[in-house]
Amino acid sequence: MRLENKIAIVTGAASGLGKAMAELFVAEGAKVVYSDIYDAPVDLTIDAEKAIYVKCDVAKREEVATLIQKAIEKFGALDIMINNAGVGTTGSILDVKDDVWEKTIGVNLSGTFYGSQLAAQVMKEKGIKGSIVNLSSILGTVGLPGTVAYCASKGGVVQLTHAAALDLASYGIRVNAIAPGFILTNMTKGMLNNDSFNKLVTGNTPLGYVGEANDIAYAALYLASDEAKYVTGTILHVDGGWTAR
Ligand SMILES: NC(=O)c1ccc[n+]([C@@H]2O[C@H](COP(=O)([O-])OP(=O)(O)OC[C@H]3O[C@@H](n4cnc5c(N)ncnc54)[C@H](O)[C@@H]3O)[C@@H](O)[C@H]2O)c1
Repeated sequence: MRLENKIAIVTGAASGLGKAMAELFVAEGAKVVYSDIYDAPVDLTIDAEKAIYVKCDVAKREEVATLIQKAIEKFGALDIMINNAGVGTTGSILDVKDDVWEKTIGVNLSGTFYGSQLAAQVMKEKGIKGSIVNLSSILGTVGLPGTVAYCASKGGVVQLTHAAALDLASYGIRVNAIAPGFILTNMTKGMLNNDSFNKLVTGNTPLGYVGEANDIAYAALYLASDEAKYVTGTILHVDGGWTAR
């Protein structure tokens, strides 16, 4: 198994990409802390031998600190931190409201910052050559009209990943990001169920179709595992070719 003896936290694990990653990690031998903003998510079936659920709002530093502390208390270490929790928001530069901007940056960028910093501090202190994986997006590299706060937050995740990888390389801690294209999840189903938007997406995706959650989970599995021991500071685009154009 590819994650034998590894301990992982996955934020935003109650649905979509986070849930797929957490389930794949358990199947590959990891002990996993599923985390999300809900008290008790309805859809999760967790094997208590291999996983626990911890509520955490990633936009709050103290909650992320408690999440990491609970992972250490339960499993004794932290090898893998997946900063996946995120919100999708709309609004153009002409009309996006401050509250939407602040929420988007707070969850997507500050949440990734808290998770990366607090995980890295624990890994350094314990001498763990850990792996931090952040969720950016194709919209961290290219724009999409009407999504200015989301694009800014995901562009921030790209540069946070580059800079943190350099800060942490001497400790053997790796930091990478995944930049998914359009994947069918709760975040995107409203947009993708709209015929004209769906056509826009498939028309701009060289492979010609929308991705599935496991396409991202397998990328996370690689970056989290020792197979990627020489990979740090990388933004892995899993986007059907969207950003190759
Ligand atoms: N689905 C896509 O097409 C796509 C593309 C590019 C990037 N992404 C990114 O992938 C990540 C996962 O998205 P998804 O598509 O699975 O969406 P999703 O909505 O299915 O899952 C996101 C999860 O994050 C949780 N969450 C939201 N705010 C939170 C907070 N403050 N604290 C803790 N948890 C919180 C939600 O409750 C939800 O369970 C996000 O960062 C998203 O921006 C998704």
